[in-house]
Amino acid sequence: MAEYTQQQLLDLVNTVQVAPGNARVRALTQRIVSDLFKTIDEMDVSADEFWSAVDWLSRLGASGQTGLITAGLGFDRLLDIRADEADQKAGRVGGTPRAIEGPLFVAGAPTAKAEVRVDEGEPRGEVFVMEGQVLDLAGQPVPHAMVDVWHANEQGGYSHFFPGMKPYELRRRIETDAQGQYRFRTALPPGYSIPPNSPTSELFEALGRHGHRPAHIHFLVVAPGKRTLTTQVNIPGDTYIDDDFAFATRDGLVVELERDVAPAGYESLGITQPFVRSRFNFVLQNAVTEDEALPLTRMERVKA
Ligand code: DHB
Ligand code: FE
Repeated sequence: MAEYTQQQLLDLVNTVQVAPGNARVRALTQRIVSDLFKTIDEMDVSADEFWSAVDWLSRLGASGQTGLITAGLGFDRLLDIRADEADQKAGRVGGTPRAIEGPLFVAGAPTAKAEVRVDEGEPRGEVFVMEGQVLDLAGQPVPHAMVDVWHANEQGGYSHFFPGMKPYELRRRIETDAQGQYRFRTALPPGYSIPPNSPTSELFEALGRHGHRPAHIHFLVVAPGKRTLTTQVNIPGDTYIDDDFAFATRDGLVVELERDVAPAGYESLGITQPFVRSRFNFVLQNAVTEDEALPLTRMERVKA
């Protein structure tokens, strides 16, 4: 039996140890629990508030939405800012900027060589072709790079997460040709919004925040000996382009659109009418450690 002050209790929570455990998990948990004790005390959190937060966490996890709150709370962009800072310090500059992966990547999308229809042959919205090369920092083409692309459908939904969509719908991997070229046809995607009436939307409503992202397309670019690039591009003209719920838009990643492009040369993508095109090159740094260039295994990783 013992009577504890808050500090004595915290010290006990943070020091009881019967086995070595995991030192990193231990250090992080101690820090987080200490910060939460402090929050509860300084902000006078009531028992009702505490248990309703616990209930919300349970519902968030049960709905599979834990990954949906991190970007809106800034954590995903924070990791990118820290990675950029580390690169700056190490003198690793240049190449296409990274941008958050987001919680909706799914590994193992169908592969194609050089070009593909991401829209799976179903016309839906404005016909859009994005094309370009994967290059190294010296401007040399990177052949056999794998460009993994994924984006939302016309309702802002991602396959595997949004009901009624086919497996890997709007998800493809394109292997660049000998000149490092890739191209794909799809429909210009709209923006994305967090799921309504969900634990995620509950939080952002309580914070008085919207849950909208401007129209964007995600990429994961992997090539032998090159540093893996996770990024996304934005479609210009979106209302939320400078007001992204996930804070992920970046200079250099807003593509330019060419409208009314003549269809000649695009027949293999089923294009017979004027369409919208964007040219965009992905510029990769050389990998300096092996895990920066995880071959294609990175793309087989199970996620979400
Ligand atoms: C979220 C959704 C996205 O499509 C994205 O790219 C980033 C974040 C989200 O719901 O948190
Ligand atoms: Fe997204």
